[in-house]
Amino acid sequence: MSSTLPTTPDQPLLWRAELGDLTLPNRVVMAPLTRARVANDALVPTELIATYYGQRATAGLIITEGTWVSERAIGFVNVPGIYREEQIAGWRRVTGLVHALGGRIVLQLWHTGAASHPDHLGGELPGGPSAVNPRTKSFTADGFKDTVTPREMTTADIAATVDDFRAAAANARRAGFDGVEIGALGAFLITQFLNPRLNLRTDAYGGDPAGRRRLLLEIVDAVAEPWPGRRVGVRLGPYWSDGDRFRADEETLTDYDALVTELNDRPVAYLHLRGPDRTAADGGPDLAALARYRRRFDGPLVANNGFDRESGNAVIEAGIADAVSFGTHFIANPDLVTRFALRRAPAVSDPATYYTGGAEGYVDHIPSGSPARAVEALAP
Ligand SMILES: Cc1cc2nc3c(=O)[nH]c(=O)nc-3n(C[C@H](O)[C@H](O)[C@H](O)COP(=O)(O)O)c2cc1C
Repeated sequence: MSSTLPTTPDQPLLWRAELGDLTLPNRVVMAPLTRARVANDALVPTELIATYYGQRATAGLIITEGTWVSERAIGFVNVPGIYREEQIAGWRRVTGLVHALGGRIVLQLWHTGAASHPDHLGGELPGGPSAVNPRTKSFTADGFKDTVTPREMTTADIAATVDDFRAAAANARRAGFDGVEIGALGAFLITQFLNPRLNLRTDAYGGDPAGRRRLLLEIVDAVAEPWPGRRVGVRLGPYWSDGDRFRADEETLTDYDALVTELNDRPVAYLHLRGPDRTAADGGPDLAALARYRRRFDGPLVANNGFDRESGNAVIEAGIADAVSFGTHFIANPDLVTRFALRRAPAVSDPATYYTGGAEGYVDHIPSGSPARAVEALAP
């Protein structure tokens, strides 16, 4: 009787996958989501945060919210760190619960650089590649504030920052994570260095595209040291645009082509690509924009931005991506994998609760009868 049943699920999102040394039972990845729920001065992940990730343990892979590699990296309120012993202990509770529930979880490493604000840094100016204001916003205790002109980082500052990433990656290993992801997108430190409008340096960390990508490549090498094998992912957003500083013109895209080619020489577990922003009228994610990187990157590729069940299955079926990450869908659907498997429509999240509000909009999306209820029995 059972021999007539298919052994491979008909939806590619439900196929197993290997991302470097990470083995995923399905290809539905939880994208990194800053939720600003760490309301304590030491920026230690709490039981509330463990519950949130535990509820989502059926994801093929959880990528945590961006997490500070050091105190100097801070640029947003109520975001956790991974540079103090208490923070490592807090994360250990998170990884322990996710693993007890059968999940896999990697930590996203984050540094805001010039996109921080003196309010986060005891009144000091943030550091950036050059003294050029990235003209973005920083979320402070008093709400969003305009960024300021940063001070230009010295080569000693840069070396210390690379060391911070290495130490944070080692701490993530001690905290029980399955790997780490380098957050190299948005308007933050690494993309400030990649950006010819913000990086006016004439030393080894600027001057030309090779100089501008040196910081990221040094960080990849440093972060890989405490993680033998392939357990380091890199997240890029070549199509990111923000104000007059960040834009995806041909020069930017050509620089990213060269960068991705250089990543082929490094022990990267996967490339996590945020594709262009699209509206519903565009007809879903721009697969051609993602295919550009499939042609250049030899390893596994995780696609993101605007996917749903149908387009997620399609991008894998087309051979453009190995897995798909979902951000907003995972906010309101801790059981997203089950919903996809049963072809149930996902619930819709409320943006008003994304960055505020304790448990509300955070851990209260448990549908009755869902396996996610098991987390309540396991949570300490
Ligand atoms: C509330 C919120 C917080 C986010 N925080 C992060 C983050 O910490 N790191 C990161 O790389 N991307 C972050 N993103 C971007 C998401 O990972 C993802 O790229 C975005 O939601 C688009 O995917 P989606 O269409 O599946 O939602 C965030 C997005 C949202 C909505």
